[in-house]
Amino acid sequence: MITIKSASELVKMQAAGRIVGETLKLLGENVRPGVTTAHLDKLAHEYILSCGAKPSFLGYAGYPGSVCISVNNQVIHGIPGKRVLKDGDIVSCDTGAILDGFHGDAARTFLCGEVKPEIQQLVRVTRECFFEGLKFCRVGYRISDISKAVQQHAERYGYGVVRDYVGHGIGREMHEDPEVPNYYSPRARQRLHAGMAIAVEPMINLGTYQVKVLSDGWTVETVDGLPSAHFENTILITEGDPVMTTYYEGDL
Ligand code: MF3
Ligand code: CO
Repeated sequence: MITIKSASELVKMQAAGRIVGETLKLLGENVRPGVTTAHLDKLAHEYILSCGAKPSFLGYAGYPGSVCISVNNQVIHGIPGKRVLKDGDIVSCDTGAILDGFHGDAARTFLCGEVKPEIQQLVRVTRECFFEGLKFCRVGYRISDISKAVQQHAERYGYGVVRDYVGHGIGREMHEDPEVPNYYSPRARQRLHAGMAIAVEPMINLGTYQVKVLSDGWTVETVDGLPSAHFENTILITEGDPVMTTYYEGDL
């Protein structure tokens, strides 16, 4: 069931989203060679709590962190730990918070030191894919219009669009209906209405779209070992322009 949020609920979504955006900003400022992924997770965890919110990923289906940190060929759901970031890595950070009963969920791929131009392009285009999709986050369009826009932009560069994981509705639950695929699916026919909230989150691979889950039960990697990038915002559908609740200053 797709939930429609009232004006006061949308204000709460914005407050939760702002905390997630600020958390990503903090993570981006701290991605550098020599830092461990566990350190980044700790910074985010403490920041979210300091805002009076709760890290929504922690304990979700048993997930052990507050951030998913996925490096290079890891696509999503990387578990923070002893791994030390190196010059040339790309670091996808996905995090969420719940405040006053409502969720924000967002992700960015950050560059660590000097990243090869070919991989920088992947990160840039993944961000562009999100903004292509955002053009269709308006009353009257269908979810599949967002999907198509994302897919077309990625495939223009020969990139692989991950199919096994998708964006989603969001609100009182982190994952609500509808699914928001990044590839065209005839099932994604739902029309957008004011008061809907969705997380649009292209996951784009330099090579094949195919992914696999590691034996830790969480980490998703590309099958061909090539890098992957992720870009996600929580978006409110309004009668006018879409609102990105998880946007932060210095983003873009
Ligand atoms: N952030 C993911 C999403 O975008 C969900 C993370 S799974 C968790 O849907 F277990 F880490 F919470
Ligand atoms: Co999400």
